[in-house]
Amino acid sequence: MALTLIALGLLGPALLVQGASESCPANSQVSCKNTTMVADLCCFNAPGGSLLQTQFWDTSPSTGPTNSWTIHGLWPDHCDGTYSSNCDSSRAYTNIAGILTSFGQTSTLSYMQTYWKNDPDDGTDEEFWEHEWAQHGTCISTLNPSCYSGYQSKQEASDFFVKVVSLFQTLPTYTWLANAGITPSTTKTYTSAQIQSALSSSRGHQAAIVCVNGALNAVYYYFNVQGSVQTGNFIAADPDSSASNCPSTGIKYLPKTGSTAPTGTTTTTSTAPTGTGGAISGSGTINVLNGSTQDGCVISAGTWYTTGTCATFTATPSGSGFTLTSSKGKCAISSGALTCASSVTTATVFTSSGGQIAYSGSTSFYAPAVASGSTQETIYTTSKSVALKLVWAAA
Ligand SMILES: *[C@@H]1O[C@H](CO)[C@@H](O)[C@H](O)[C@H]1NC(C)=O
Ligand SMILES: *[C@@H]1O[C@H](CO)[C@@H](O)[C@H](O)[C@H]1NC(C)=O
Repeated sequence: MALTLIALGLLGPALLVQGASESCPANSQVSCKNTTMVADLCCFNAPGGSLLQTQFWDTSPSTGPTNSWTIHGLWPDHCDGTYSSNCDSSRAYTNIAGILTSFGQTSTLSYMQTYWKNDPDDGTDEEFWEHEWAQHGTCISTLNPSCYSGYQSKQEASDFFVKVVSLFQTLPTYTWLANAGITPSTTKTYTSAQIQSALSSSRGHQAAIVCVNGALNAVYYYFNVQGSVQTGNFIAADPDSSASNCPSTGIKYLPKTGSTAPTGTTTTTSTAPTGTGGAISGSGTINVLNGSTQDGCVISAGTWYTTGTCATFTATPSGSGFTLTSSKGKCAISSGALTCASSVTTATVFTSSGGQIAYSGSTSFYAPAVASGSTQETIYTTSKSVALKLVWAAA
């Protein structure tokens, strides 16, 4: 990341990242890490500059698939563990499902219906979503309606839920723990160090782990953001306060009752897509997720670039999915590589899963190296050293 930031600094503010809301300078200061005052809170999250993607492991009663954690929310903390809440009662929207549907975000909505579950004793999923939006979402400065040009009523709430889901999909807690041998059990116990080590070796940063009655119940993943929540780079960070409360030893990780995730796999982003081709259509940009952070985007030739302007693509429904076209021409997977060019005669039909582009049933893409500075990288569908996800951002 250091290299990227240096490159951005040298290239200066001429390079803009095109956003759904407004254009934010690609070299915007990073939230909580700014060295000077920042006036434009549409491209800089403040005072809530520490964005926490919070997850639950609920077993009493069990919620969601037995082999996945579930979404709690996305919380804008004040870089020190304190936070504001319920920042704009005039935007405490109801009918979140209807808002998402009205903005075409039906795949986000259906994902939420599986992975963003209320405790049934507390109320409906819809009530939980409304609570998370009103309590935390309305405090995110970059989601303020005044930040949008051509604002459509409630569109910032749609942007919020789309972002929370796409972040959650990059944070597969169940899999990260299971990969370290930490699996639900009525008898086994784990140490706080074992859990932290499993999460930090997967993500490169510590998370906050929260216990209830000595059993693992929640994980908070911290991010700082460069730019807006809608279109900016989410930069993984360590916790900035002592939210962890689990004992150092004897932590239970109790099994859930119920069934596994619908696809029979986990919540990881490699989950087989369901062919929801209709979810991606119209014009948009394609963000590249490298690990848990958004790092640049796809440019018109179909390559990955971390600086410069994201290309606008047009997604056109085709068969059970959609095709993509950039200003360079149609896009296809050719010899395993994503290519958009006038020489492409037959556009490849892609599908999507949870807002991510999929090819041949997989949302996994690859590059031989991390794109950095002025170096572009070809995006492949066959395994290379850097694993990527391609996330659609509707214009
Ligand atoms: C993501 O990009 C950063 C540079 O911005 C690099 O250091 C890191 O290794 C990359 N992560 C993955 C998983 O490729
Ligand atoms: C960072 O920006 C915020 C918002 O403008 C400001 O309140 C804070 O003082 C800034 N921090 C520094 C170190 O300048």
